[in-house]
Amino acid sequence: MFNNIYRGKKVFLTGHTGFKGSWLSLWLTELGAEVCGYSLEPNTEPSMFKELKIEEKISKSVIGDILDYKYLSETINLFKPDIVFHLAAQPLVRLSYAEPILTYETNVMGSLKVLEAARNCPSVKAFVNVTTDKCYENKEINRGYKEDEPMGGYDMYSSSKGCVEILSSSFRRSFLQEDSTMAMATARAGNVIGGGDWALDRLIPDCVRGVNAGKNIEIRNPIAVRPWQHVLEPLSGYLLLGQKLLEEGKGKYRSIYADGFNFGPNEDSVLTVAEVSKMACEFYGKGKVIVGEKSPLHEAGLLMLNIEKAKKVLGWTPTLTAQEAIKNTIEWYKHFYNKDIDMYEFTINQISSYADLMNKYSVHCF
Ligand SMILES: NC(=O)c1ccc[n+]([C@@H]2O[C@H](COP(=O)([O-])OP(=O)(O)OC[C@H]3O[C@@H](n4cnc5c(N)ncnc54)[C@H](O)[C@@H]3O)[C@@H](O)[C@H]2O)c1
Repeated sequence: MFNNIYRGKKVFLTGHTGFKGSWLSLWLTELGAEVCGYSLEPNTEPSMFKELKIEEKISKSVIGDILDYKYLSETINLFKPDIVFHLAAQPLVRLSYAEPILTYETNVMGSLKVLEAARNCPSVKAFVNVTTDKCYENKEINRGYKEDEPMGGYDMYSSSKGCVEILSSSFRRSFLQEDSTMAMATARAGNVIGGGDWALDRLIPDCVRGVNAGKNIEIRNPIAVRPWQHVLEPLSGYLLLGQKLLEEGKGKYRSIYADGFNFGPNEDSVLTVAEVSKMACEFYGKGKVIVGEKSPLHEAGLLMLNIEKAKKVLGWTPTLTAQEAIKNTIEWYKHFYNKDIDMYEFTINQISSYADLMNKYSVHCF
């Protein structure tokens, strides 16, 4: 897969103790990569990182702060990666209202420090910078945003990621030019679901917590529309982007891949919060969704992504419907709580089933 580019490659992954980072650690390891993760300790209890013993599966797991430039830089230079996937962030909208400084420091200054450390490490040829669909100035319009639309963000999380996009573009123009050996792309994905996420104030983890506690699932914003996707969908986009950047080789600073890319679902997977939570309960076979009090904190009502660029330039396409994504997610949690299966094996099987489907249906040139 991915033209076998990751076999034997050294990959530096920030945010490996988090939800997406745990899945990406496992997928990269399956692809034959040597992974060095760099993150804070897992911030949920339970966490996929601890439950699946990911520390033992990857080559090196470093607990460190991306804001600690000296340690970050030393760790990168010691490992000498070929490619960096930067996922570490404060990724929660509601927490960003309570912790604006932490959110901006982590997301904006943290990203700048990871970029700068990578630029100063001669082995790094490619950098995939993970932002979000929320980086766009959301005008609540009834169509998907294209990559060249203005950055923005109402809340501190969204605007911090809009800043990361602006910073990345400036960084590319300022430093990643003729004499640079590193090419960098940004990846903007939508609302991601999948097993192993226990973050606060996220819909599926909230549903799972409600079902397991025998409580009603209270949703705040039933008609809000989001581009829902299984976690493996954007990760396949990140990996494809990384492949393309690596294949271009040194000196290809003007690569068409060194740019921003949206990774979202097809239009039929753009569902409301109420639809997703009800589907989750159906697959669980239990749980009751009720509409709670609307939060006083602003949250976007309508958000969609246009994915034509990723389709045309990268040959990427979504593989699962929203229904399949929710089913796979709920199966993961059911097994986890039933304790009836080895969750590491089950997760690896979900990755290989997804990869088989991708090869079957997609137009990628893996
Ligand atoms: N989950 C989603 O729905 C979603 C959607 C769009 C974009 N994203 C983006 O994807 C990335 C991963 O998100 P996630 O859902 O896995 O989040 P997560 O909270 O599960 O993981 C965040 C990771 O960042 C690390 N981290 C946070 N602050 C750090 C610091 N100062 N130094 C080092 N590490 C630090 C944490 O330790 C953890 O490993 C983020 O950049 C997020 O903005 C997520």
